[in-house]
Amino acid sequence: MNAMTQDQQKQAVARAARDFVAAKIAAGAVVGVGTGSTANFFIDELATIKERLAGCVASSEATRMRLEGHGIRVFDLNDVAELPIYVDGADEIDAGLMMIKGGGGALTREKIVAAVAGTFVCVCDQSKLVDTLGRFPLPVEVIPMARAYVSRELSRLGGQPRLREGFVTDNGNIILDLHGLSIADPVTLETRINQIVGVVTSGLFARRGADLLLLATSRGVETINRRSEAATIPS
Ligand code: 5RP
Repeated sequence: MNAMTQDQQKQAVARAARDFVAAKIAAGAVVGVGTGSTANFFIDELATIKERLAGCVASSEATRMRLEGHGIRVFDLNDVAELPIYVDGADEIDAGLMMIKGGGGALTREKIVAAVAGTFVCVCDQSKLVDTLGRFPLPVEVIPMARAYVSRELSRLGGQPRLREGFVTDNGNIILDLHGLSIADPVTLETRINQIVGVVTSGLFARRGADLLLLATSRGVETINRRSEAATIPS
């Protein structure tokens, strides 16, 4: 049998997430939806059960438009009392289900939706599972007037910040991508970066990691629970 391509793996994990949502939510629930190519596959799958949902909360304008393109109602997060499940991808995820996110620049809204959600389901292909976070440059959303100051402060943490050229977030801010990290203590680093004045948030999801990982591998989709045995990197 031919190995699955990365897109086929994303499709498979999106379908598994759709099935998970269908099994777990009550009729008329609102679902949180992430951003990125894997999230896009999930949105297309979610459309097949849209009659069972009241609608969704979107973590970016791109996701809002894709949901609305399927005729799925998009709620303002402030108008939603309960968000049982949030489904999103990641740029890297470790065995403790801590993540680097924000490759698509939606990290702040993603972190807000994740904070509200009851269960965070991360959907990834196996290329995203790592032993140590940090090979993927860590995105940091920054208020534009603080760019130079925040760059200096981030350099003091040991990485090399680079401005994401020509990119403005949905919130009107810039992104500094922090290269060259090997993150031994993600919780401490998340706290330190978030304390720098001018930082909106970092793409380190350590304090609020995922609760469940649906991981697409060449053998199919594996389910890894945060509280279960540590994940191993599939060969
Ligand atoms: C966007 C994100 C995405 O979840 C992350 O970049 C993964 O994207 P993809 O599924 O396209 O690999 O954090 O801000």
